Amino acid sequence: MKFHIVSGGCGFVGRNMVKRLFSTTQDVIIFVDDLSVGWDPEQWLSEPKTSSSGNIFTYGEDARLIFIKDDIREVLRASLNDPLDYFSKLLNIEFSSLGKFFHFAAIVGGRAMIDGDPIKVALDLAIDSEFFYWISRNKPDNVLYPSSSAAYPIDLQTDKDAIALSESDINFAKMGQPDMTYGWTKLTGEFLSKIIAEHYGVKIVCIRPFSGYGEDQDLSYPVPAIAARAAKKENPFEVWGSGKQGRDFVHIDDVLDCTLLAMEKIHDGSAINIGQGRLTSFLELIDIFTDFAGYKPTIKPLLDKPVGVHSRYCNMDYVKERLGWEPKISIRDGMRRVYDTAVEKYVK
Ligand SMILES: NC(=O)c1ccc[n+]([C@@H]2O[C@H](COP(=O)([O-])OP(=O)(O)OC[C@H]3O[C@@H](n4cnc5c(N)ncnc54)[C@H](O)[C@@H]3O)[C@@H](O)[C@H]2O)c1
Repeated sequence: MKFHIVSGGCGFVGRNMVKRLFSTTQDVIIFVDDLSVGWDPEQWLSEPKTSSSGNIFTYGEDARLIFIKDDIREVLRASLNDPLDYFSKLLNIEFSSLGKFFHFAAIVGGRAMIDGDPIKVALDLAIDSEFFYWISRNKPDNVLYPSSSAAYPIDLQTDKDAIALSESDINFAKMGQPDMTYGWTKLTGEFLSKIIAEHYGVKIVCIRPFSGYGEDQDLSYPVPAIAARAAKKENPFEVWGSGKQGRDFVHIDDVLDCTLLAMEKIHDGSAINIGQGRLTSFLELIDIFTDFAGYKPTIKPLLDKPVGVHSRYCNMDYVKERLGWEPKISIRDGMRRVYDTAVEKYVK
Protein backbone atom coordinates (compact mmCIF):
# COMPACT_ATOMS: atom_id res chain seq x y z
CA MET A 1 0.00 0.00 0.00
CA LYS A 2 1.25 3.46 -0.93
CA PHE A 3 0.72 6.58 1.20
CA HIS A 4 0.95 10.31 0.64
CA ILE A 5 1.64 12.90 3.32
CA VAL A 6 -0.08 16.27 3.55
CA SER A 7 1.38 18.54 6.24
CA GLY A 8 -0.90 21.37 7.35
CA GLY A 9 -3.71 19.21 5.96
CA CYS A 10 -6.42 21.00 7.97
CA GLY A 11 -5.52 24.48 6.69
CA PHE A 12 -7.19 26.15 3.73
CA VAL A 13 -5.08 24.71 0.90
CA GLY A 14 -4.32 21.48 2.78
CA ARG A 15 -7.92 20.46 3.42
CA ASN A 16 -8.87 21.12 -0.19
CA MET A 17 -5.91 19.00 -1.32
CA VAL A 18 -6.78 16.17 1.11
CA LYS A 19 -10.31 16.00 -0.32
CA ARG A 20 -9.00 16.14 -3.88
CA LEU A 21 -6.47 13.34 -3.29
CA PHE A 22 -9.09 11.18 -1.58
CA SER A 23 -11.40 11.46 -4.58
CA THR A 24 -8.70 10.98 -7.23
CA THR A 25 -6.43 8.21 -5.83
CA GLN A 26 -6.86 4.85 -4.11
CA ASP A 27 -3.85 5.42 -1.82
CA VAL A 28 -3.77 6.22 1.88
CA ILE A 29 -3.59 9.92 2.73
CA ILE A 30 -1.90 10.79 6.00
CA PHE A 31 -2.53 14.39 6.94
CA VAL A 32 -0.82 16.05 9.86
CA ASP A 33 -1.86 19.31 11.49
CA ASP A 34 -1.45 20.73 14.99
CA LEU A 35 -4.77 22.59 14.57
CA SER A 36 -3.09 25.83 15.63
CA VAL A 37 -5.09 27.42 12.83
CA GLY A 38 -6.50 24.47 10.90
CA TRP A 39 -10.06 23.25 11.25
CA ASP A 40 -10.93 19.94 12.90
CA PRO A 41 -11.68 17.39 10.13
CA GLU A 42 -15.20 16.94 11.57
CA GLN A 43 -15.91 20.45 10.23
CA TRP A 44 -14.92 19.82 6.63
CA LEU A 45 -14.75 16.08 5.86
CA SER A 46 -18.00 14.47 4.78
CA GLU A 47 -16.58 10.94 5.22
CA PRO A 48 -17.47 9.29 8.54
CA LYS A 49 -14.91 8.87 11.31
CA THR A 50 -14.05 5.15 11.45
CA SER A 51 -11.65 5.04 14.41
CA SER A 52 -9.73 7.13 16.89
CA SER A 53 -6.81 6.29 19.12
CA GLY A 54 -4.88 9.00 20.97
CA ASN A 55 -4.08 11.70 18.43
CA ILE A 56 -4.80 9.49 15.37
CA PHE A 57 -8.18 9.53 13.63
CA THR A 58 -9.28 7.65 10.52
CA TYR A 59 -12.06 8.66 8.14
CA GLY A 60 -13.90 7.06 5.23
CA GLU A 61 -15.41 3.57 4.92
CA ASP A 62 -12.05 2.20 3.76
CA ALA A 63 -10.16 4.23 6.44
CA ARG A 64 -7.89 5.71 3.77
CA LEU A 65 -7.91 9.14 5.35
CA ILE A 66 -5.70 9.26 8.42
CA PHE A 67 -5.39 12.41 10.50
CA ILE A 68 -2.50 12.80 12.95
CA LYS A 69 -3.05 15.76 15.26
CA ASP A 70 0.50 16.85 15.99
CA ASP A 71 3.24 19.31 15.21
CA ILE A 72 4.65 18.16 11.85
CA ARG A 73 8.17 18.56 13.25
CA GLU A 74 7.46 15.86 15.87
CA VAL A 75 6.18 13.51 13.18
CA LEU A 76 9.15 14.23 10.90
CA ARG A 77 11.63 13.58 13.73
CA ALA A 78 9.93 10.37 14.83
CA SER A 79 9.78 8.98 11.28
CA LEU A 80 13.12 10.33 10.00
CA ASN A 81 15.13 7.11 9.90
CA ASP A 82 12.55 4.73 8.39
CA PRO A 83 9.15 6.25 7.52
CA LEU A 84 7.78 3.04 5.98
CA ASP A 85 8.47 1.10 9.16
CA TYR A 86 7.37 3.98 11.41
CA PHE A 87 3.99 4.59 9.76
CA SER A 88 3.35 0.84 9.20
CA LYS A 89 3.77 0.15 12.92
CA LEU A 90 1.99 3.32 14.06
CA LEU A 91 -1.05 2.77 11.87
CA ASN A 92 -1.01 -1.02 11.65
CA ILE A 93 -0.97 -0.94 7.85
CA GLU A 94 1.63 -2.72 5.67
CA PHE A 95 2.98 0.23 3.63
CA SER A 96 5.13 -0.65 0.62
CA SER A 97 6.01 2.82 -0.66
CA LEU A 98 6.02 6.50 0.14
CA GLY A 99 4.18 8.51 -2.50
CA LYS A 100 3.95 12.29 -2.62
CA PHE A 101 4.62 14.87 0.08
CA PHE A 102 2.54 18.06 0.06
CA HIS A 103 4.00 20.50 2.57
CA PHE A 104 1.32 23.01 3.59
CA ALA A 105 2.17 23.33 7.30
CA ALA A 106 3.14 26.94 7.88
CA ILE A 107 2.38 30.02 9.93
CA VAL A 108 0.67 32.28 7.41
CA GLY A 109 -2.02 34.35 9.08
CA GLY A 110 -2.70 37.10 6.54
CA ARG A 111 -1.46 40.68 6.47
CA ALA A 112 -2.14 41.42 10.16
CA MET A 113 0.20 38.59 11.19
CA ILE A 114 2.81 39.15 8.44
CA ASP A 115 3.26 42.79 9.49
CA GLY A 116 2.23 42.46 13.15
CA ASP A 117 4.24 39.46 14.35
CA PRO A 118 7.02 38.87 11.81
CA ILE A 119 9.17 36.77 14.15
CA LYS A 120 6.32 34.33 14.75
CA VAL A 121 6.04 33.95 10.97
CA ALA A 122 9.81 33.34 10.83
CA LEU A 123 9.17 30.08 12.72
CA ASP A 124 8.34 28.79 9.25
CA LEU A 125 12.10 28.55 8.78
CA ALA A 126 12.17 25.94 11.57
CA ILE A 127 9.26 23.98 10.09
CA ASP A 128 10.72 24.13 6.58
CA SER A 129 14.28 23.22 7.48
CA GLU A 130 13.13 20.05 9.26
CA PHE A 131 10.90 19.27 6.30
CA PHE A 132 13.77 19.66 3.79
CA TYR A 133 16.10 17.56 5.96
CA TRP A 134 13.52 14.75 6.10
CA ILE A 135 12.97 14.97 2.33
CA SER A 136 16.71 14.73 1.65
CA ARG A 137 16.85 11.51 3.70
CA ASN A 138 13.65 9.83 2.57
CA LYS A 139 13.16 10.95 -1.04
CA PRO A 140 9.39 10.70 -1.61
CA ASP A 141 8.21 10.09 -5.22
CA ASN A 142 7.36 13.72 -5.69
CA VAL A 143 7.33 16.81 -3.48
CA LEU A 144 5.43 20.10 -3.40
CA TYR A 145 6.85 23.18 -1.73
CA PRO A 146 4.33 26.05 -1.61
CA SER A 147 6.22 29.27 -1.89
CA SER A 148 4.29 32.50 -2.31
CA SER A 149 3.96 35.62 -4.39
CA ALA A 150 5.42 37.28 -1.26
CA ALA A 151 8.80 35.96 -2.40
CA TYR A 152 8.87 38.53 -5.22
CA PRO A 153 10.82 41.79 -4.77
CA ILE A 154 8.46 44.38 -3.27
CA ASP A 155 9.94 47.24 -5.31
CA LEU A 156 8.19 45.73 -8.35
CA GLN A 157 4.79 46.05 -6.63
CA THR A 158 4.47 49.76 -5.81
CA ASP A 159 1.74 52.21 -6.81
CA LYS A 160 3.79 53.62 -9.71
CA ASP A 161 6.06 50.77 -10.78
CA ALA A 162 3.90 47.64 -10.53
CA ILE A 163 4.44 45.04 -13.24
CA ALA A 164 2.93 41.61 -13.90
CA LEU A 165 5.45 39.50 -11.99
CA SER A 166 7.22 36.89 -14.10
CA GLU A 167 9.01 33.82 -12.78
CA SER A 168 12.31 35.31 -14.01
CA ASP A 169 11.88 38.31 -11.64
CA ILE A 170 13.31 36.04 -8.95
CA ASN A 171 16.87 35.26 -9.86
CA PHE A 172 19.04 34.10 -6.97
CA ALA A 173 22.06 35.69 -8.59
CA LYS A 174 20.44 39.19 -8.65
CA MET A 175 18.01 39.70 -5.79
CA GLY A 176 15.53 42.33 -4.51
CA GLN A 177 13.78 42.35 -1.11
CA PRO A 178 10.92 39.87 -0.62
CA ASP A 179 7.89 40.76 1.55
CA MET A 180 8.81 40.62 5.28
CA THR A 181 9.88 37.43 7.10
CA TYR A 182 7.12 35.53 5.28
CA GLY A 183 8.62 36.30 1.87
CA TRP A 184 12.16 35.63 3.08
CA THR A 185 11.11 32.21 4.40
CA LYS A 186 9.47 31.30 1.12
CA LEU A 187 12.49 32.46 -0.84
CA THR A 188 14.72 30.35 1.38
CA GLY A 189 12.37 27.41 0.77
CA GLU A 190 12.72 27.93 -2.97
CA PHE A 191 16.50 27.96 -2.65
CA LEU A 192 16.42 24.74 -0.59
CA SER A 193 14.10 23.16 -3.16
CA LYS A 194 16.72 23.73 -5.85
CA ILE A 195 19.35 22.18 -3.58
CA ILE A 196 17.11 19.20 -2.85
CA ALA A 197 16.60 18.58 -6.55
CA GLU A 198 20.20 19.14 -7.61
CA HIS A 199 22.10 17.55 -4.71
CA TYR A 200 19.69 14.84 -3.56
CA GLY A 201 17.88 13.94 -6.79
CA VAL A 202 14.37 14.53 -5.36
CA LYS A 203 11.55 15.54 -7.71
CA ILE A 204 10.25 18.81 -6.32
CA VAL A 205 8.37 21.84 -7.61
CA CYS A 206 7.62 25.20 -5.97
CA ILE A 207 4.38 27.06 -6.54
CA ARG A 208 3.80 30.76 -6.00
CA PRO A 209 0.07 31.09 -5.53
CA PHE A 210 -1.01 34.72 -5.66
CA SER A 211 -4.15 35.36 -3.59
CA GLY A 212 -5.84 31.96 -3.34
CA TYR A 213 -9.46 32.14 -2.20
CA GLY A 214 -12.40 29.81 -1.83
CA GLU A 215 -15.71 29.10 -0.17
CA ASP A 216 -14.22 27.49 2.93
CA GLN A 217 -11.52 30.03 3.72
CA ASP A 218 -11.05 31.49 7.17
CA LEU A 219 -12.67 34.88 7.85
CA SER A 220 -9.27 36.37 8.69
CA TYR A 221 -8.73 36.53 4.89
CA PRO A 222 -10.19 39.42 2.89
CA VAL A 223 -12.29 37.61 0.27
CA PRO A 224 -14.57 35.62 2.64
CA ALA A 225 -14.62 38.54 5.10
CA ILE A 226 -15.76 41.04 2.45
CA ALA A 227 -18.30 38.52 1.12
CA ALA A 228 -19.75 38.00 4.62
CA ARG A 229 -20.05 41.74 5.24
CA ALA A 230 -21.71 42.29 1.85
CA ALA A 231 -24.12 39.44 2.57
CA LYS A 232 -25.08 41.27 5.78
CA LYS A 233 -25.39 44.51 3.75
CA GLU A 234 -22.74 46.45 5.72
CA ASN A 235 -23.09 50.20 5.08
CA PRO A 236 -20.84 52.15 5.27
CA PHE A 237 -18.50 49.45 3.99
CA GLU A 238 -15.09 49.33 5.68
CA VAL A 239 -11.97 48.67 3.62
CA TRP A 240 -8.38 48.42 4.79
CA GLY A 241 -6.34 51.35 3.41
CA SER A 242 -7.75 53.25 0.44
CA GLY A 243 -9.00 50.00 -1.15
CA LYS A 244 -7.15 50.92 -4.34
CA GLN A 245 -4.46 48.34 -3.58
CA GLY A 246 -4.91 45.18 -5.62
CA ARG A 247 -4.16 41.48 -5.74
CA ASP A 248 -4.37 38.62 -8.22
CA PHE A 249 -7.22 36.45 -6.87
CA VAL A 250 -7.29 32.81 -7.94
CA HIS A 251 -9.83 30.17 -6.92
CA ILE A 252 -8.59 27.21 -4.88
CA ASP A 253 -9.86 24.66 -7.45
CA ASP A 254 -7.63 26.31 -10.06
CA VAL A 255 -4.73 26.33 -7.59
CA LEU A 256 -5.10 22.57 -7.03
CA ASP A 257 -5.40 21.77 -10.76
CA CYS A 258 -2.27 23.73 -11.60
CA THR A 259 -0.34 22.34 -8.62
CA LEU A 260 -1.01 18.71 -9.50
CA LEU A 261 -0.05 19.31 -13.13
CA ALA A 262 3.14 21.10 -12.08
CA MET A 263 4.09 18.15 -9.84
CA GLU A 264 3.78 15.83 -12.85
CA LYS A 265 5.82 18.02 -15.17
CA ILE A 266 8.39 20.02 -13.16
CA HIS A 267 10.95 18.21 -11.01
CA ASP A 268 13.96 20.50 -10.75
CA GLY A 269 12.86 22.64 -7.79
CA SER A 270 11.93 25.60 -9.94
CA ALA A 271 8.89 27.76 -9.23
CA ILE A 272 5.76 28.72 -11.12
CA ASN A 273 3.17 31.42 -10.62
CA ILE A 274 -0.45 30.51 -9.98
CA GLY A 275 -2.83 33.38 -10.53
CA GLN A 276 -5.27 34.81 -13.04
CA GLY A 277 -2.67 37.21 -14.39
CA ARG A 278 -5.06 40.03 -13.49
CA LEU A 279 -5.08 42.77 -10.87
CA THR A 280 -8.32 43.32 -8.93
CA SER A 281 -8.48 46.11 -6.35
CA PHE A 282 -10.28 45.71 -3.03
CA LEU A 283 -12.73 48.40 -4.13
CA GLU A 284 -13.56 46.29 -7.21
CA LEU A 285 -14.01 43.26 -4.97
CA ILE A 286 -16.44 45.20 -2.77
CA ASP A 287 -18.25 46.28 -5.91
CA ILE A 288 -18.65 42.67 -7.08
CA PHE A 289 -19.97 41.43 -3.72
CA THR A 290 -22.30 44.36 -3.04
CA ASP A 291 -23.62 43.98 -6.59
CA PHE A 292 -24.48 40.34 -5.74
CA ALA A 293 -26.14 41.62 -2.56
CA GLY A 294 -28.06 44.25 -4.55
CA TYR A 295 -26.95 47.50 -2.92
CA LYS A 296 -24.34 50.26 -3.29
CA PRO A 297 -22.70 51.21 0.03
CA THR A 298 -20.65 54.23 1.04
CA ILE A 299 -16.99 53.21 1.29
CA LYS A 300 -15.22 53.86 4.60
CA PRO A 301 -11.40 53.60 4.23
CA LEU A 302 -9.52 52.47 7.37
CA LEU A 303 -6.20 54.17 6.78
CA ASP A 304 -4.48 52.82 9.93
CA LYS A 305 -4.79 49.15 8.85
CA PRO A 306 -1.85 47.27 7.26
CA VAL A 307 -2.24 46.89 3.50
CA GLY A 308 1.06 45.42 2.27
CA VAL A 309 2.35 46.17 -1.21
CA HIS A 310 0.17 48.23 -3.53
CA SER A 311 -0.23 46.02 -6.59
CA ARG A 312 0.68 42.34 -6.75
CA TYR A 313 -0.27 40.33 -9.82
CA CYS A 314 1.43 37.82 -12.07
CA ASN A 315 2.36 37.10 -15.61
CA MET A 316 1.00 33.63 -16.46
CA ASP A 317 2.74 33.29 -19.86
CA TYR A 318 5.39 30.87 -18.61
CA VAL A 319 2.80 28.53 -17.05
CA LYS A 320 0.69 28.62 -20.19
CA GLU A 321 3.69 27.78 -22.32
CA ARG A 322 5.33 25.22 -19.99
CA LEU A 323 2.24 23.43 -18.67
CA GLY A 324 -0.38 24.41 -21.22
CA TRP A 325 -2.53 25.54 -18.28
CA GLU A 326 -4.83 28.50 -17.74
CA PRO A 327 -7.23 29.21 -14.86
CA LYS A 328 -10.83 28.15 -15.54
CA ILE A 329 -12.77 30.01 -12.86
CA SER A 330 -13.38 33.68 -13.60
CA ILE A 331 -13.28 36.23 -10.77
CA ARG A 332 -17.03 36.77 -10.95
CA ASP A 333 -17.89 33.03 -10.95
CA GLY A 334 -15.47 32.28 -8.13
CA MET A 335 -16.66 35.21 -6.02
CA ARG A 336 -20.27 34.14 -6.64
CA ARG A 337 -19.46 30.78 -5.02
CA VAL A 338 -17.94 32.55 -2.03
CA TYR A 339 -20.90 34.91 -1.77
CA ASP A 340 -23.50 32.12 -1.92
CA THR A 341 -21.66 30.29 0.88
CA ALA A 342 -21.51 33.50 2.93
CA VAL A 343 -25.28 33.97 2.57
CA GLU A 344 -25.84 30.33 3.69
CA LYS A 345 -23.53 30.75 6.68
CA TYR A 346 -24.18 34.26 7.93
CA VAL A 347 -27.58 35.39 6.72
CA LYS A 348 -29.95 32.41 6.59
N1 LIG B 1 -3.78 30.40 0.49
C1 LIG B 1 -3.04 31.02 -0.41
O1 LIG B 1 -3.52 31.75 -1.27
C2 LIG B 1 -1.56 30.86 -0.41
C3 LIG B 1 -0.83 31.74 -1.21
C4 LIG B 1 0.54 31.60 -1.23
C5 LIG B 1 1.15 30.61 -0.51
N2 LIG B 1 0.42 29.78 0.27
C6 LIG B 1 1.15 28.79 1.05
O2 LIG B 1 0.44 27.56 1.09
C7 LIG B 1 0.61 26.94 2.37
C8 LIG B 1 -0.75 26.70 3.00
O3 LIG B 1 -1.43 27.94 3.14
P1 LIG B 1 -2.90 28.06 3.72
O4 LIG B 1 -3.53 29.23 3.08
O5 LIG B 1 -3.57 26.74 3.63
O6 LIG B 1 -2.59 28.42 5.24
P2 LIG B 1 -3.36 27.94 6.55
O7 LIG B 1 -2.90 28.81 7.67
O8 LIG B 1 -4.82 27.86 6.30
O9 LIG B 1 -2.80 26.46 6.74
C9 LIG B 1 -1.59 26.15 7.38
C10 LIG B 1 -1.87 24.95 8.27
O10 LIG B 1 -0.65 24.54 8.90
C11 LIG B 1 -0.97 24.18 10.23
N3 LIG B 1 0.29 24.26 11.00
C12 LIG B 1 0.99 25.37 11.33
N4 LIG B 1 2.12 25.03 11.99
C13 LIG B 1 2.11 23.67 12.07
C14 LIG B 1 3.00 22.71 12.63
N5 LIG B 1 4.14 23.09 13.24
N6 LIG B 1 2.67 21.41 12.55
C15 LIG B 1 1.52 21.01 11.93
N7 LIG B 1 0.64 21.87 11.37
C16 LIG B 1 0.95 23.18 11.44
C17 LIG B 1 -2.04 25.14 10.68
O11 LIG B 1 -2.82 24.64 11.76
C18 LIG B 1 -2.86 25.25 9.40
O12 LIG B 1 -3.89 24.29 9.37
C19 LIG B 1 1.49 27.89 3.18
O13 LIG B 1 2.83 27.49 3.05
C20 LIG B 1 1.29 29.22 2.49
O14 LIG B 1 2.40 30.05 2.68
C21 LIG B 1 -0.92 29.89 0.35
